[in-house]
Amino acid sequence: MKSSRKINGPVLGIETSCDETAAAIYDAGRGILAERVYSQIKLHEAYGGVVPELASRDHARRLLPLIREVMNEAGVTGEGLGGVAYTAGPGLMGALMVGAATGHALARGWSVPAIPVHHLEGHLLAPLLDKPAPAYPFLALLVSGGHTMLMRVEGLGRYEILGETLDDAVGEAFDKTALLLGLNYPGGPALEALAVSGRPIAPFPRPMTDRPGLDFSFSGLKTFTMNAVRQSAPYEGREADIARAFQEAVFDTLVIKCRRALKQTGLKRLVIAGGVGANQALRDRMQRLADDEGVTVYFPARHLCTDNAAMIAHVGTLILSASPNGPDFGGSRFFVRPRWGLSQ
Ligand code: KG4
Ligand code: ZN
Repeated sequence: MKSSRKINGPVLGIETSCDETAAAIYDAGRGILAERVYSQIKLHEAYGGVVPELASRDHARRLLPLIREVMNEAGVTGEGLGGVAYTAGPGLMGALMVGAATGHALARGWSVPAIPVHHLEGHLLAPLLDKPAPAYPFLALLVSGGHTMLMRVEGLGRYEILGETLDDAVGEAFDKTALLLGLNYPGGPALEALAVSGRPIAPFPRPMTDRPGLDFSFSGLKTFTMNAVRQSAPYEGREADIARAFQEAVFDTLVIKCRRALKQTGLKRLVIAGGVGANQALRDRMQRLADDEGVTVYFPARHLCTDNAAMIAHVGTLILSASPNGPDFGGSRFFVRPRWGLSQ
């Protein structure tokens, strides 16, 4: 049997890897006690994407008040915490530094462990915050703004990457296509809403589905969509039709690869994680796939698909309880790694 460690209280989670400032308190027995996300969308909207320098400054302004709010709501003191978990990477260097420096300093001041957490591990294990939680092992499709991966998940820290994107991530392709269609940043939710009223047109290509393997590529589809926008004559509803054709091509591709991965691995549980997992059309498609294949599919609650701190506090708690001799997470130095592979 694996040894585990008793944790001395709930864990504070901090997330500042990109354009959301988030804090949450998670307790191993009682679940999420308090959570807040402050989105910087308005700040970056005029630029059509995240401006790293503005992001860091805003994290520095918002983070401490958010931490105070969640601690008050959960009724915990710093000394009463089991630890402070912060996102150490991957993400924007300056943005990560704010969360890491703050989390580490608070943990030192309160004499509790500071736990650096991998952002993708947060996404990947977020479905475990819901009931019923998927048992290990499972197949995970991680679809976010920065990553698109198929993974075999055996347990905490035991991940095998089966396939990943060779260029754009799915969320990135959504955001760039949305800009082409005249939608505001971040484009994913806006493109989803527009696609609802789209009518079927000639299908867009399903990239890399005609050859074996589990890797993805979305930059060609993005170019195809750009040409469709530039070369077709304008008509009422054209953008919605294109949005629908683009979304269907992306989700068909994801379904084809997930089906292949389920057959290849024989896994009976499928987890959808990351920001794009909030998309209802994707959820419907994956539910149908799971019914067809006789497997169970798990989606995190929508607000836990996109960036949040509950998923970071949750992984921090798992790491703490898996460290029977007490954590040793870099001692007096905080840890930030903007580029960080999940297998490292
Ligand atoms: O996981 P996440 O919040 O941040 C990263 O770690 O990247 O994912 C953000 C991405 C963005 O590209 C956003 O446009 C996309 O997820 N997204 C969606 C939807 N909600 C968020 N894409 C499609 N449909 C949605 N409903
Ligand atoms: Zn994320």
